[in-house]
Amino acid sequence: MPEIVDLRSDTVTRPSPEMRRAIAVAEVGDDVLGDDPTVLRLQERCAALLGKPAALYVPSGSMANQVAIRAVCEPGDEIILDETTHSYNYEVGGPSALSGASVRPIASPRGVYTAAQLEAAIRPPGSHFPNSRMAIVENTNNRGGGTIWPVEQMATIREVTQRRGLHLHLDGARLMNACVARALKPTAYAQLVDSVCMCFSKGLGAPIGSIVAGSKPFIERCHRFRKMFGGGMRQAGLLAAAAIYALDHNVERLAEDHKNAKRLAEGIAGIRGIGLDPKTVETNIVIFAVAPELGTAESFAARLRERGIWLFATGPTRCRAVTHLDVSATQIDRAIAGLRDAAGRS
Ligand SMILES: Cc1ncc(COP(=O)(O)O)c(C=O)c1O
Repeated sequence: MPEIVDLRSDTVTRPSPEMRRAIAVAEVGDDVLGDDPTVLRLQERCAALLGKPAALYVPSGSMANQVAIRAVCEPGDEIILDETTHSYNYEVGGPSALSGASVRPIASPRGVYTAAQLEAAIRPPGSHFPNSRMAIVENTNNRGGGTIWPVEQMATIREVTQRRGLHLHLDGARLMNACVARALKPTAYAQLVDSVCMCFSKGLGAPIGSIVAGSKPFIERCHRFRKMFGGGMRQAGLLAAAAIYALDHNVERLAEDHKNAKRLAEGIAGIRGIGLDPKTVETNIVIFAVAPELGTAESFAARLRERGIWLFATGPTRCRAVTHLDVSATQIDRAIAGLRDAAGRS
């Protein structure tokens, strides 16, 4: 069996020995009773990092989005977002199931929509329509290929949501990837939105957990819904310690993942049957098209798997590879060779 290069997601990383040591020595309490000192420390640190009055630690990115949606929306409300958005596609219909909210998807290039598109999607007042209550932006955008929202464009979205009275939520599961790639502080984006979430269990390399941040009343509501959705955790300081370790050690190194993603994209772009413009690779996600001569994306991914290269088919003709802290440049070169071989061009 060849050595595995696991490019399925940046969620597959395993805690390093140093992170495990930080977990082992974490001071803990009962976070449902509000007295886990490590969780409190993480929440305060993230509130400051994101420039928000309050923050709440939650078990997952999905829960972060869904408590934020539930804190804002009531049945009959509508959420506007790009059609690729995670909270619309991969959270099991959470907005309708948990908040009674409908979703109005916008089709935009690589997940980054314009103020004009948003404005056109907002419902007029009237007794027939859902109430346009919330807009969501995803930065970086996962299905779009790790796309970074330009700050100026997000600012134009902000102008519309403020003027039209919508809550603007930023799904920043990979916000730090955008910030490192553009040399921006997280507040550059966070100051433009009413609420923001961020994951520790993706590029930052922690095993579990996300943060949601916003105003105090918003976070108080999120707190209630976290409990309702079953996300109250007791000695969660063990996990929060890993998140603190990740913030201390794993942010700046995201640049390496971006370099590896570029290396992969440039290495495979020339292979016949693979469609990819390396210039579109901005962070740690590489999406490429698979031409019919190579079979379906699914069958191509299966051939790669036989060669120890693990990635996902994300559509009938699309594959996605994600770089992360457990993949080295040498492994990327192995992945390039494996792709070449699976495409029959070695
Ligand atoms: C953009 C985005 N938001 C939210 C999530 C959900 O995170 P989790 O898997 O922790 O629920 C993901 C997961 O990949 C994601 O890519």
